[in-house]
Amino acid sequence: MQIPMVDLKGQYESLKAEIDSAMLQALGETRFILGPNVQAFEQESAEYLGVKHAVTCASGTDALHLALRAAGIGPGDEVITTAFTFIATAEAIRYVGATPVFVDIQSDSLNIDPGKIKAAITEKTTAIIPVHIFGQPADMDEIMAIARAHDLKVIEDCAQSFGSRYHQNMTGSIGALGAFSFFPSKNLGCYGDGGLVTTNSDEFAQELKIYRNHGSSKQYHHDVIGYNSRLDELQAVILRIKLKHIDDYNQNRLRVAQTYNELLKDSPITTPAIPQDRDHVFHQYTVLVDHRDSIKDHVISKQIASAVYYPVPLHQQQAFRDAPQVSLPVTEAVSRRCVSFPIFPEMTEEQIKTVCTAILEAV
Ligand SMILES: Cc1ncc(COP(=O)(O)O)c(C=O)c1O
Repeated sequence: MQIPMVDLKGQYESLKAEIDSAMLQALGETRFILGPNVQAFEQESAEYLGVKHAVTCASGTDALHLALRAAGIGPGDEVITTAFTFIATAEAIRYVGATPVFVDIQSDSLNIDPGKIKAAITEKTTAIIPVHIFGQPADMDEIMAIARAHDLKVIEDCAQSFGSRYHQNMTGSIGALGAFSFFPSKNLGCYGDGGLVTTNSDEFAQELKIYRNHGSSKQYHHDVIGYNSRLDELQAVILRIKLKHIDDYNQNRLRVAQTYNELLKDSPITTPAIPQDRDHVFHQYTVLVDHRDSIKDHVISKQIASAVYYPVPLHQQQAFRDAPQVSLPVTEAVSRRCVSFPIFPEMTEEQIKTVCTAILEAV
């Protein structure tokens, strides 16, 4: 592929000397489980995100699962979320034995529509999981107001939004808990799987630390049945180095999105609006089109990658056939029309122009 969706090689090359030497040092220290780099990364990321506690774990999926458990969500509970997301958001709800209740999205931001949340609340509802999809913060003021009025816990799915700010606050610092993924292609990605849960609650933080480590607060003493879900020391080495560059990476993602929007502005494509009151960190550059397949075919013939996030919304997935059946017209329409094009911090103006030329030839 001449232009891939992300260029992890290019990013590694730019940090190679620092990463290689820090990795060799960690290998020499041999403190591989909950070692010094994990501890340091937890401190540094808590500081960066403006939260009291940042507790690492093995993946973004685990971060959601651990957050739900710490929040006490379990069998019989209903959790309101979006169907326009990666399956992990609702898988985690199932892991704790609760039921996902899917609510429709806004046609512009593609985030959960707060105006539709109230109608989905029942006496069983205990939590809301908004997803900051593609890196754009959801309407957190409205969501938090609903949660306060109905005594619901808010767990932010920040897998795609590391470093994005909603008004004055980082995503992940607004709800009761925030769940992040460090999957390699994420805005802050490691070189394998990794995750993080953020919270300002001492109690939740303590529970998260116990759950991620076999339910243990003291070695070989197990208070509850927990999990083996710890961030690997070597991944923490990578994350500490990349964290220093995250603002620069996100700025560059915004630059790429702005250039795309400018070059595509006179076409029939619906490009993503860039909000003024919050930071969109463009984990994905996703547009809405009418002839998605022919555009994709043409673009791929020019050796340019594209992807569809997400072709089948969660309420229509086989895996959720036993969840309450709902019709979500905006989600369904967006799933039919969405397509994402390459975006990564190192993307050159030349590469963006090449992608846009191919798109414009096809629309
Ligand atoms: C919105 C969302 N939630 C959760 C996850 C799960 O993260 P992970 O792949 O690290 O388990 C992802 C990652 O793909 C995601 O995009």
